[in-house]
Amino acid sequence: MQETNPVMDCLMNHRSVRKFKPDPIPEETLHTILHAGTRAATAGCMQPYAFIVLDDPEVLKKVSYIPAPLAVVAVVDQYRIKRYYELNDAPFYNDQAVNLFISYWDATIALHNIVIAAESMDLGGVYIGMILSQDLRESLGVPDYVIPAGLVALGYPDEAPGLGPRLPLEAVVHRNAYHIPSDDDIREWYRVHDERWADRFENEWSEDRRRKSIEHGVTNCAQQWTIGHYTPDFIHGESQALLRNLRSAGFRLEED
Ligand SMILES: Cc1cc2nc3c(=O)[nH]c(=O)nc-3n(C[C@H](O)[C@H](O)[C@H](O)COP(=O)(O)O)c2cc1C
Repeated sequence: MQETNPVMDCLMNHRSVRKFKPDPIPEETLHTILHAGTRAATAGCMQPYAFIVLDDPEVLKKVSYIPAPLAVVAVVDQYRIKRYYELNDAPFYNDQAVNLFISYWDATIALHNIVIAAESMDLGGVYIGMILSQDLRESLGVPDYVIPAGLVALGYPDEAPGLGPRLPLEAVVHRNAYHIPSDDDIREWYRVHDERWADRFENEWSEDRRRKSIEHGVTNCAQQWTIGHYTPDFIHGESQALLRNLRSAGFRLEED
């Protein structure tokens, strides 16, 4: 058995927390975890991101649906870089797809450093994916070339959830090349998810909810995710909003 260490313990015990005590996060702790965020690897040391810390309850309510004492929004920030280039007579053409994707990468690994640092200091948190489709110009005053990359709600946990299921390593690890799995492989890998959903359906859902679900054509875990939860209309609407955000922030996305 491989020896463990505090970093591994922290990583292996991650769980999302969605209920928080009202206690605020002390400034010193906040400073430490934000600092840890900035120590993540960053393309060219340029840090093409920013963290917008939200602790005003009114502002929090506007952008995050999970009540928490604090949230950190990681944004792609090519605005600051543009200003820096302008001050140094350097041309700016970071409004293109590669810069956008590199900046997303940069912003989200920095945000995840914040999450790991927070969890190592007895805080808990949860990401909120749909920040990506929000227009932050009005709610948070962001300028051109700044768009949301991720949001994490943070606080002291008021619940102790169990570990979430994960696919076996063989489902996600390929060596030297991508190996196409068989149907049986995929069925087997998702068995835990399927059984977990079936157990909830049978034992936790009311008769009425079960009936409505079947009427909607939702009879298994995969259908729950598509028809039941992330419907085509919802996903299309969110995607259109995201693309609108990118374009109105000034990013060039068309092929030429
Ligand atoms: C990109 C991303 C977006 C997520 N968005 C949400 C969200 O909007 N709401 C939510 O409750 N959880 C969200 N989560 C948390 C996942 O639901 C959670 O990680 C998953 O259920 C596994 O549970 P665990 O983190 O406890 O292992 C998100 C996680 C990621 C990585």
